[in-house]
Amino acid sequence: MDLLPDTAPPPTANAETAPTPPPVIRRADYRPPAWLVPEVALDFALGLDATTVRAELTVRRNPAIDRAPLRLAGDGIAARAVTVDGLPSNAWRMDGADLVIDLPGAEHRIGIETAINPAANSQLMGLYASGGMLCTQCEAEGFRRITFHPDRPDVLSVYRVRLSGDKARFPVLLANGNCIATGDHGDGTHWAEWHDPWPKPSYLFALVAGDLVATRDRFTTMSGRAVELAIWVRPGDEGRTAHAMRSLIQSMRWDEEAFGREYDLDLFNIVAVSDFNMGAMENKGLNVFNTRYVLADPETATDGDYDAVEGVIGHEYFHNWSGNRVTCRDWFQLSLKEGFTVLRDQLFSAAMGSEPVKRIEDVRVLRAAQFPEDSGPLAHPIRPDSYQEISNFYTATVYNKGAEVIRMMRTLAGPERFRAGCDLYFARHDGEAATCEDFIRAIEEGAGLDLTQFRLWYSQAGTPRVTARLDHAGDTATLHLAQQVPATPDQPSKQPMPIPLRIALLDRATGRHAGEHLVVLDTAEARFDFPGHAQPPVLSINRGFSAPVALDAGQSDADLVFLAAHDDDPFARYEALQRLIVGHLTGAIDGTLDAAGRQAGREAIGGALAAVLDDPALDDLMRGELLILPAESYLAEQVAAADPVSIRREREALKAWLADRLADRFLALHDRAILVPYSLDAAARGARKVKTQALVYLAAGRPEEAARRAAAQYDAADNMTDRQGAMMVLCGLDTPLRAQKLADFHARYAADALVIDKWFSLQAGSLHPAALDHVRALAGHPDMTLTNPNRVRSLYMAFAANAGAFHAADGSGYRIIADLILALDPLNAQTAARFVPPLGRWRRIDPGRAALMRAELERILAAPRLSRDTYEQVSRSLG
Ligand code: PHE
Ligand code: ZN
Repeated sequence: MDLLPDTAPPPTANAETAPTPPPVIRRADYRPPAWLVPEVALDFALGLDATTVRAELTVRRNPAIDRAPLRLAGDGIAARAVTVDGLPSNAWRMDGADLVIDLPGAEHRIGIETAINPAANSQLMGLYASGGMLCTQCEAEGFRRITFHPDRPDVLSVYRVRLSGDKARFPVLLANGNCIATGDHGDGTHWAEWHDPWPKPSYLFALVAGDLVATRDRFTTMSGRAVELAIWVRPGDEGRTAHAMRSLIQSMRWDEEAFGREYDLDLFNIVAVSDFNMGAMENKGLNVFNTRYVLADPETATDGDYDAVEGVIGHEYFHNWSGNRVTCRDWFQLSLKEGFTVLRDQLFSAAMGSEPVKRIEDVRVLRAAQFPEDSGPLAHPIRPDSYQEISNFYTATVYNKGAEVIRMMRTLAGPERFRAGCDLYFARHDGEAATCEDFIRAIEEGAGLDLTQFRLWYSQAGTPRVTARLDHAGDTATLHLAQQVPATPDQPSKQPMPIPLRIALLDRATGRHAGEHLVVLDTAEARFDFPGHAQPPVLSINRGFSAPVALDAGQSDADLVFLAAHDDDPFARYEALQRLIVGHLTGAIDGTLDAAGRQAGREAIGGALAAVLDDPALDDLMRGELLILPAESYLAEQVAAADPVSIRREREALKAWLADRLADRFLALHDRAILVPYSLDAAARGARKVKTQALVYLAAGRPEEAARRAAAQYDAADNMTDRQGAMMVLCGLDTPLRAQKLADFHARYAADALVIDKWFSLQAGSLHPAALDHVRALAGHPDMTLTNPNRVRSLYMAFAANAGAFHAADGSGYRIIADLILALDPLNAQTAARFVPPLGRWRRIDPGRAALMRAELERILAAPRLSRDTYEQVSRSLG
């Protein structure tokens, strides 16, 4: 690579006011940094509405690059004073938002003073105030809102941080690494000094100051080092940290066992913050979390919340190696840390609970969130080629498809050889800012794989479509496979990719098979012969969801029913049932199903679900999983120009028919499940899962019975899983019990923000025909605020995902979301931009609605002073 200085003009806009259009940043334009920053010393004089930052950067010229000035990024800040080597300097200038200094030598000390107002920071990037405390969020480009710095992930520094502030307001002062000294100024203020010995990029910097209490524990690492663990929460929340602490300790132990990764500091701090744009952040030694991924107790958190806490605690902890010790060279490599870390958290959660259920859940998320992204205007490869605002690329593609791509490498290599590849990656790149290419090469060498063609998974967007047909002649079964990768924006034509498919051929008489095969489809078409089958077998394909593809296996309903009953791969069993139902519903939705076909389809599905309900060999967690009908968003992907209302109608009609046909079984299931007492073990959790599933079906076919049972379940509930499940069912029904229980729910949890979020979501996401009116009323509820991202999402994300309400024929649902985007954009651009994708799906919706969606996008784009975040998402969506 040629080593040119990084003097290309960087974007000059800050998050609040972008010119139109913002500059495009390209992966191909990467240049190594002209200046390195081996050391950073920061001195914060903290105040909620006035904080002074004195930064001292030790800068060293990159010997490979000559004569470039030092260019430091800033965003919405001004330098009050600049020193060079300790002396006041005038040798600096502003170039847009950048501070540029001409420096004579090869190494200098730069001092810069900035002042910020954290209380006025509604973007929640940089240093901000939340509920009286101060905290930071620096990924991806928030550090430049605190002080001037190269603020790019390939510039790694050792940080020393001094915090001082009011003792009463900020009794706790935290930063990365180890606390090396504390002291009292004697005037009501105190200070603490922190030192992080591990060089890190600026996006991993963090500080927290506030009135917090800690839950503490200890972990002894595999080499015998003692680590002090602390989870910091607001006073009053300390009773809800036990599950997070248990999850942290399990994560630390699991990463040692599964990946040989040991923690590397004496301290590990987690802080829970109520106002947070994302889920959590892996700052070195000081993870900052959205409260919703820390706090859990039976009264306020569902089983799903418990799982989410475990998964996110694991995810952030695992970043200590996949992200922090080995970080990203540039933001185009985001999947290097995120895809890999999602895979690691998935494997961890699978090991802590039910592996097959976890796999099904992962696939459900991928299909509901990533497949629509991959087939829409915002489709991008897991390693994008360009962006205008990097915050827009924290996507299901980079995260979840990224994890699937690395999982395929693991499938191709086998777990042991994959582990050897990971070991090589960590050993080779420890302390470096690496690329996806570095990762692939380490897996190739460490695992002994040739991934030449596999690299296409990093550069091609779009979900591959695979067609499979099984022939039989003589004693040989022949599998014919074909693949096609659809065109996506900027990528009109694609090359075939290697697609690893785990398959088995089941004997029709016994339901057994003689062993699994791994076939790799790496051409547009291929055939594979399997001798030794006197009779035509039944094809079980993409077992364990070994490849993230859309599959058309052309199987008869009879074969799918057979697989749903007999397949020994739990995922394949689930998948057969899903395909049976998807096939039926898409036929019903697009009108290709006649009355006889509809009846036959329903009977087949009813029979298969009866078997699921009756099978004593299934545990309830798995049974509950198998009972979940395919999501509306996934169904919408299967039909062209979908009419969301007919999707809703057909899915509900099937549910009602099944409820009627299987009513006795659902009632018996509910009766059985409500007798199981609360605990966190798998059997009790399974019982809670099927309990609500039974009500969900009954609500469609026996609404009065369902309302009565849901109200009773609500009243008897001693945990949030049961209470929320019952409330969800009531929210969808036209019954006086609905308002009654909603009022009770609100009164009971009025003081608990995370539970009030549920109260909003349950109503916004409900099947009730008046859900849109409910949302309109809730937008004016006193508990609604645009300054808390959790609350905004609780109402509006749930609504945007509620196809029956969001897609109201007159476009009023689209207007609600567009109005929200316009109101939120000046306050919190990152969160505002996340509401654009639901409007961007217009191409896959019926033409009448598509025009209304486009009109709202146009209206947003016409607004003055749109953020870079929203501008990029809207313009690409109209594309
Ligand atoms: N890096 C965080 C994670 O995946 C996500 C994040 C991104 C948080 C940007 C905040 C801001 O764990
Ligand atoms: Zn992450």
